[in-house]
Amino acid sequence: MNKVIQSEMIVPNMHLLRLEAPDVARKVQAGQFVIVRPDEEGERIPLSVADWDRSAGTLDIVFMEVGASTGRLATLKAGDAIPTCVGPLGNPTQTGYFGTVMVVAGCYGIGSMYPVARDLKASGNKVLTVVEGRSSYLLYWLDKYVPVSERIFSITRDGSQGQKGRVNVLADLIHGLKKPPDRIIVNGCTFLMARTSEVTKQLAIPTIVNLNPIMIDGTGMCGVCRVTVGGKMKFACVDGPEFDGHEVDWKEFLARRKAYMSEEAWFFRKSEPQAPLHEEGGCHA
Ligand SMILES: Cc1cc2nc3c(=O)[nH]c(=O)nc-3n(C[C@H](O)[C@H](O)[C@H](O)COP(=O)(O)OP(=O)(O)OC[C@H]3O[C@@H](n4cnc5c(N)ncnc54)[C@H](O)[C@@H]3O)c2cc1C
Ligand code: FES
Repeated sequence: MNKVIQSEMIVPNMHLLRLEAPDVARKVQAGQFVIVRPDEEGERIPLSVADWDRSAGTLDIVFMEVGASTGRLATLKAGDAIPTCVGPLGNPTQTGYFGTVMVVAGCYGIGSMYPVARDLKASGNKVLTVVEGRSSYLLYWLDKYVPVSERIFSITRDGSQGQKGRVNVLADLIHGLKKPPDRIIVNGCTFLMARTSEVTKQLAIPTIVNLNPIMIDGTGMCGVCRVTVGGKMKFACVDGPEFDGHEVDWKEFLARRKAYMSEEAWFFRKSEPQAPLHEEGGCHA
């Protein structure tokens, strides 16, 4: 059992969960994820590790409430416990020296990209952070990004903070820099990653995405997380979750992600009849 140390909604529909998980906290690195189960009957869901404290043996996870399992996780309180927290899983982010690295984060990715930005800064890179959301009140953790970023840019769809628009305004933002970044790393909803990759392909800037397919075991056994990258079949859980965004077959990826949508919606409405699927904080960059 993994004890809940802290549980809070940080912005509408986005939650921070601090779990006691000393074995994972000892080994975890930026870009890795865990598989958790909210209760004994719950399904296994992958969630990225957004921060950790090795000496206290704790992990921070930032998650968006989108369905049955995340809905159950959102009801947990400090002192509760969950039956499963397996990890660390997946390959860590490659965080050596690249020069200037732009970190593009939206939705739950604002949480999970924080340790990536921190490691990139520690490796001597100039880190430019871009946070994206529907409105300023959905952006969070900017205070954590300040010490690890050379500059922080915001993109909001309603223009309430930073540049108004969707992630396609990234091209203007990059053109406004003295020199384009040497590398871009992006995490958040699928549309944010796909659109960013489209924009940066035109600009020929190497772009890494953190894919979020449906997963079951997280260890390369079930094949559910199959993705096509550069024409080759990969399993996101063991070969990723990070891949070259310019090489991902986004059409296939989006289609596979939607495979269980009607069942998920049915199950969520059955268990949470009052709650709409993708309410506040739902993102479609
Ligand atoms: C490696 C990895 C890391 C992830 N890290 C995080 C994280 O740090 N924080 C976070 O909030 N989410 C993260 N996700 C997504 C998260 O796993 C899903 O949101 C979760 O499984 C949904 O479970 P549910 O039962 O609440 O919703 P479901 O009832 O299963 O689905 C509800 C809705 O969520 C969508 N959905 C289902 N699976 C995913 C998925 N894998 N990614 C995105 N949307 C999905 C469905 O299409 C549906 O619209 C990650 C996914 C992967 C593969
Ligand atoms: S989740 Fe089963 S192979 Fe990746």
